Amino acid sequence: MIKIAPSILSADFANMGRAVEQVEEWGADYIHCDVMDGRFVPNITFGPQMIRELRKHTRLPLDVHLMIVEPERYIEEFAGAGADIITIHQEAAVHLHRTLMQIRDAGCKCGVVLNPATPVCMIEDVLDDVDMVLLMSVNPGFGGQKFIPRTLEKARSLRQMLAGRPVDIEIDGGVGEANAKAVIDAGVNVLVAGSAVFGSPDPRACIEALRCSR
Ligand code: DX5
Ligand code: ZN
Repeated sequence: MIKIAPSILSADFANMGRAVEQVEEWGADYIHCDVMDGRFVPNITFGPQMIRELRKHTRLPLDVHLMIVEPERYIEEFAGAGADIITIHQEAAVHLHRTLMQIRDAGCKCGVVLNPATPVCMIEDVLDDVDMVLLMSVNPGFGGQKFIPRTLEKARSLRQMLAGRPVDIEIDGGVGEANAKAVIDAGVNVLVAGSAVFGSPDPRACIEALRCSR
């Protein structure tokens, strides 16, 4: 099953409640929420308060991508605010295994994110402890960037490394109808798309096209 997770980074920040309602109406599977702290990445977005407010507007799972330093300081707050999936960067987590367990203990699904320059072997020893691996196909911080093709090889080797474990592989950055088939063929089953969905004249059709790109 291919899942589509539109990133609200490309939505109207002054109308976020309406934006997530629309994403649900368009037939998406998850709402991808990009949390940025201005330290791990050179941009600032929103925190747990936004997640708490969005929770009131949708029943879709909130897929919370933490691009923050010291993520262990905020796990319980995001979980309490209504996050369903929390992903943390390998590069930001000093005690990665501990923080992944902290996410599970808080009642959420947990995932680890890799920047484009981080090889998949860095997470070999937590593969039994994650529900999802998120591969960044752009350097995190901004929507609308160009897809880094090397990510496809990373997805293929990760799928092999997983050796049949039921772990989702999510990809984030520069994904659209032009590369969705290649992404899915490489073993990815959750596609994040920001500018492709929100910039489309027909977002519902775009989501459906992304999902059926096999
Ligand atoms: C980038 C974010 C992405 C971003 C993707 O740091 O993690 O989720 O919104 O946007 P597009 O799909 O436009 O590349
Ligand atoms: Zn993201």
